Amino acid sequence: GMPERVTIYEVGPRDGLQNESAIVPVDVKAEFVRRLVAAGLPIVEATSFVHPGWVPQLADAAELMADLGEEGRRLPVLVPNERGLDRALELGLEHIAIFGSATETFASNNLNRTFDEQFAMFEPTVARAREAGMDVRAYVSMCFGDPWEGTVPVEQVVSAGTRLLDLGASQLSLGDTIGVATAGHVKALVAAFGEAGVGTDRLAMHFHDTYGQALANTFSALQAGITTFDASAGGLGGCPYAKSATGNLATEDLVWMLDGLGIAHGVDLAAVVGTSTWMAGHLGRPSPSAVVRALGGS
Ligand code: HMG
Ligand code: MG
Repeated sequence: GMPERVTIYEVGPRDGLQNESAIVPVDVKAEFVRRLVAAGLPIVEATSFVHPGWVPQLADAAELMADLGEEGRRLPVLVPNERGLDRALELGLEHIAIFGSATETFASNNLNRTFDEQFAMFEPTVARAREAGMDVRAYVSMCFGDPWEGTVPVEQVVSAGTRLLDLGASQLSLGDTIGVATAGHVKALVAAFGEAGVGTDRLAMHFHDTYGQALANTFSALQAGITTFDASAGGLGGCPYAKSATGNLATEDLVWMLDGLGIAHGVDLAAVVGTSTWMAGHLGRPSPSAVVRALGGS
């Protein structure tokens, strides 16, 4: 049956803002993060400690985390390598997320590494983070389809995902980077991880909504026993290194469905809608979320 409660892992400030052509001022980013935390989102991924030339939108990561101060320390940040880890350690951060690829082409395009080289980059990063007492999440991208390689076999995803977990990550987030997953494919992938000994307690789902399937995919994952879902306030998001990646599953769309199912999540829907409407004003265009448009007025 369905879980009684789920954890929403908010990625708007990171996945959302990394893909905006406009550079959002750092004080607006800090307010975005604070408002999402105040809305009851238990985890808010704040930014990325990647190469500033690769993602200029998040080049102010250190400034943002300094602005957030003590309350920012527990918030996860993306870190691809030891250089990124050093920057996070300098600020006393406690939670990082590495991000691998299930495919060769995306490892090259997003990380400038071959499929195998990415693990060599992550291994010392995770080892040193764990030694420092940090929690490490691992993403795996292109879990369903890849713009260059087409449909990605489930065995390939399980192989990449288990390698990332074996490095010492506590949770694996399965990314549908370009939003091509379908409900049946989700069911098959979760089952394949189960057969490989990775239970639903160690998995999260990260859906992009390119084909409008994110909620159906979420429903399928709930039925399969998944209890952590990544979502982005207002449905912002995408990946600058994956053509055809659009916004994430909107936090508001997820909350609306969970409320209808009677599944607890602890998030104040009106507060998230208000935050997304405010952010849409800064970005100069309406939110892509149907729920925000229905409830938000703008
Ligand atoms: P590289 O060019 O191979 O880096 O990039 P390098 O290791 O050769 O180093 C070159 C220079 O960059 C060095 O400086 C390093 O110090 C510096 P130099 O010695 O020449 O002066 N450098 C850094 N500086 C600051 N912070 C760092 C850093 N690393 C190296 N962390 C690299 C390799 C991984 C850094 C690059 O490819 C990169 O930054 N990629 C990130 C791309 C990205 O952020 N993509 C979006 C996030 S992933 C995503 O959105 C998917 C997800 O949402 C899930 C899903 O939807 O599937 C998570
Ligand atoms: Mg993403």
